[in-house]
Amino acid sequence: MIILGIETSCDETAAAIIRATTKTKPVTVLSNIISTSLEFHAQTGGIIPEVAAREQLKFIIPVIDQAINEAQLGSSIQDLRPGIDAIAVTYGPGLIGSLLVGVETAKSLSYAWNKPLIPVNHLYGHLYANWIETPDYRLPTTAQTENSTVVPLFPAIGLIISGGHTDLVLMKDHGHIEWLGGTRDDAAGEAFDKIGRMLGLPYPSGHLMEQKAKHGDPKRFTFPRPMIGTNDFDFSFSGLKAAASREITRLQGHSELVSESPKGNSGSPSGTTRLDDQTINDICAGIQEAIIRVVVKKTIRAAEKHQVKSILLGGGVAANQTLTDRIAFEIGNLKLDIALSVPTKHLCTDNAAMIATAGFYNYKEVSWKDLTPNPELHFD
Ligand code: KG4
Ligand code: ZN
Repeated sequence: MIILGIETSCDETAAAIIRATTKTKPVTVLSNIISTSLEFHAQTGGIIPEVAAREQLKFIIPVIDQAINEAQLGSSIQDLRPGIDAIAVTYGPGLIGSLLVGVETAKSLSYAWNKPLIPVNHLYGHLYANWIETPDYRLPTTAQTENSTVVPLFPAIGLIISGGHTDLVLMKDHGHIEWLGGTRDDAAGEAFDKIGRMLGLPYPSGHLMEQKAKHGDPKRFTFPRPMIGTNDFDFSFSGLKAAASREITRLQGHSELVSESPKGNSGSPSGTTRLDDQTINDICAGIQEAIIRVVVKKTIRAAEKHQVKSILLGGGVAANQTLTDRIAFEIGNLKLDIALSVPTKHLCTDNAAMIATAGFYNYKEVSWKDLTPNPELHFD
């Protein structure tokens, strides 16, 4: 089966074509096109919804066209019946203007081509990036076989960790997802981005903060590990952001810690005093350590409580190698019989291949007349 996926929930305009055979095999990506308005948002240090939607309107047709061309299906967006079997589209959660662009385009194509339309929850999409060839799949040390093309086994704990979400879910089977807990305020990626901005780093800052943390000392500054001891699966990162803000303001008052020639970063708020490089590295290491400690602790506890066979990561922050390595370490340390699956890095962040894949494994067709975006969509 060939599926066209469309994703426009935030600042990306993405289209992808996948080939799927059976539910016991991962899918193959034939094309995966992403156009982003990130450079506009880097100038303002955050996403401006109207700018994102306007850019998506410009790019949605060229991006779908390119996805069909690159997949070499022998047809084009102009053909009445391109060589696809279904269209999967993100209908929430996300920004309403952005979602409308993808959903209305998918509806139009479904009508014009007479192809089935599959609505996809963006959060499911992040988890289903683990069903695309070939994730970083680490078998438990107790496993008897080496098999890099297996699909994750149920039950599984899913950790969706991105700029907009931090959720822990229990996946009992395809389409049977139970929400266990999530952030009560900021998402983990949002904490990285906002603290990065205080440090004068460009938006989004998560990836750069991970690089800087490699040269930093996580013990120089000890930041709070919010809710690490609570007996639930919830998170809270706004207190961490406040603690970082207080510490950065205090350090900026020490002239010996301030860089002689502040570098003009596009993402830095005007008037920010830039700290010296080593202090920035140490703060990045301390913040990353605080976030990872909490996330790893709760993910492992959820996995033990529900006696799962796999842990699946998804979302932009899942691209953080230190996070993956720490979860893998804990699994080994506790001798848990659990596999860990992390999507290929470029499939951790928003893309349409994961939407097409989620559509295949949760195939539920709707009429184009009945589909409207739901910006507040969560887990059922
Ligand atoms: O999934 P995504 O593309 O968009 C949302 O649905 O939010 O995730 C983007 C988020 C940003 O907050 C970015 O800073 C973060 O993922 N991110 C990282 C890393 N790479 C991206 N955070 C920490 N470490 C990384 N290596
Ligand atoms: Zn996302």
